[in-house]
Amino acid sequence: MRNRLVAGNWKMNGSLESVRALTRGILEGLDQVGDAGVAVCPPAIFIPEVAALTSGSALAVGGQNVCDQDSGAFTGEIAGSMLKEFGCRYAIVGHSERRNLYGETDDLVARRFVAARRNGLTPILCVGELLEEREAGDTEKVVARQLDAVLAVTGIEGFRDAVVAYEPVWAIGTGKTATPEQAQEVHAFIRNKLSEVDSTIADALTIQYGGSVKASNAEELFSMPDIDGGLIGGASLQADEFLAICRAAG
Ligand code: 13P
Repeated sequence: MRNRLVAGNWKMNGSLESVRALTRGILEGLDQVGDAGVAVCPPAIFIPEVAALTSGSALAVGGQNVCDQDSGAFTGEIAGSMLKEFGCRYAIVGHSERRNLYGETDDLVARRFVAARRNGLTPILCVGELLEEREAGDTEKVVARQLDAVLAVTGIEGFRDAVVAYEPVWAIGTGKTATPEQAQEVHAFIRNKLSEVDSTIADALTIQYGGSVKASNAEELFSMPDIDGGLIGGASLQADEFLAICRAAG
């Protein structure tokens, strides 16, 4: 069976006090989560605090992005080695907010993916289409282009033990979740596409769904054959709600 992973992307939310309370709240309920892996991706400045609180627990920590370079004059960026030094296991790359609000290109995302791997982090590669792209029937074309940019740099080996998150942009923070069937269709497309290159790597790949996942819809999404957990935004900011989503994946 494939590894399942539920990861909370806290985006740019929280204060030192609220982040401590949220982390402690998640830790308290973690033993009721089944086999699914659980991770949180705090704003970078809170990573040391969260890493200290979660040290020795099953709750993993991830960065919300990682620099494509390893050190030097890259103001505002964080190197993979720095995330690693503070206990991170994962690094999200290519989140649609990075792509669409901050202009990150497929090529840059691919380089960030490589940097995560180079530094011993598991990349969580986000892919997904805009509403107008879905309406134009271009969903698969867009997702294929985003995957191809990474494949071109890493080959299929880059996807061994990596995580892909399918996040349709129209479903992020809108309360408008993709139906389980809509999500499954794209997840199967992703797995089949990679399977054409290497079916062992594709079969083992954890593919998360992200976009308005809540406790009330998590179970039906996670019951689909190619949906292996979720990348959770808003609903990951409340410990009880997030834990209920984690249990749905367990
Ligand atoms: P929401 O769960 O708030 O829709 O956000 C999803 C997301 O972007 C996770 O990375």
